Amino acid sequence: MTYPDQNAAIDPDNEIFRYQSCDFIMKYVENGSKVLDVGAGDGAVALPVADLCKSHVTCFDQQPDRLQQISNLGKGLPIQTIVGDCHDLPFKEDSFDVVYSRMLLSHLPRWRDALSEQVRVCKPGGVVIAHHRSKGIVDVLNDYFPESRVRDAVLKQRMKTTRSCATPDDFNELAEKLGCDVIETAPIGLFLANSAFFETAFERGSAHEAFRKDYHKHLLKPDVRSFVDWFERTVTPKLAPALTEMFFTVLRTPQESR
Ligand SMILES: C[S@@+](CC[C@H](N)C(=O)[O-])C[C@H]1O[C@@H](n2cnc3c(N)ncnc32)[C@H](O)[C@@H]1O
Repeated sequence: MTYPDQNAAIDPDNEIFRYQSCDFIMKYVENGSKVLDVGAGDGAVALPVADLCKSHVTCFDQQPDRLQQISNLGKGLPIQTIVGDCHDLPFKEDSFDVVYSRMLLSHLPRWRDALSEQVRVCKPGGVVIAHHRSKGIVDVLNDYFPESRVRDAVLKQRMKTTRSCATPDDFNELAEKLGCDVIETAPIGLFLANSAFFETAFERGSAHEAFRKDYHKHLLKPDVRSFVDWFERTVTPKLAPALTEMFFTVLRTPQESR
């Protein structure tokens, strides 16, 4: 499936990652449902969800300019935008059928508080879809490159934007505390040019840049692209979460109103 394009050109590995994320989230969105996208950014997921699932999407983010971009691109779609901090969502309990966030929780040191807020505003028996960076892949770096200068550089680079990582067990624990069931855990984005598999191989930035350029050129070949699309949709979700840089966790909120 392809989705309406954003105006910004993105690398093919990121584009595949975006399509795969949209597919994953849209499995849980029924036509006409009320959806909340937390940390919606420029609508990479919210726009396809509103367009293809014919659902009403509330886009929430702390950056008004990013939300403005959604309003500009999503004219005519059932979308509203709200500015604020995701640790304190301005919605009543039981407001949405589906609440999701993509590439948000890893920016938050208090990701558990943010996720608890998402559960609070979701209806009883509704779905909260969380997306987080895998702590397991950091452990892989620590275990296999213990004394490496490159490993230190990679971790430093990652931690510029990463304020937290998690494991599926972290989600299991939090879900139990919140009275939710974990209904799916799925890794995502094996072919995203991620730090553990690609950056550790290079000592210098320039070599890495050259590699990325070649890698992207390769991914743009139609046969390679269709293989990667197939692999990401059918095989990657069945891998161990520690093998990819990120993973999704889907929670079902308690049936009883809280
Ligand atoms: C990496 S972007 C992801 C955007 C979008 N979800 C996507 O998948 O393309 C992270 C977004 O989270 C937003 N964000 C970060 N911290 C936030 C907070 N405390 N409250 C609300 N939004 C936040 C940022 O403004 C940014 O738009």
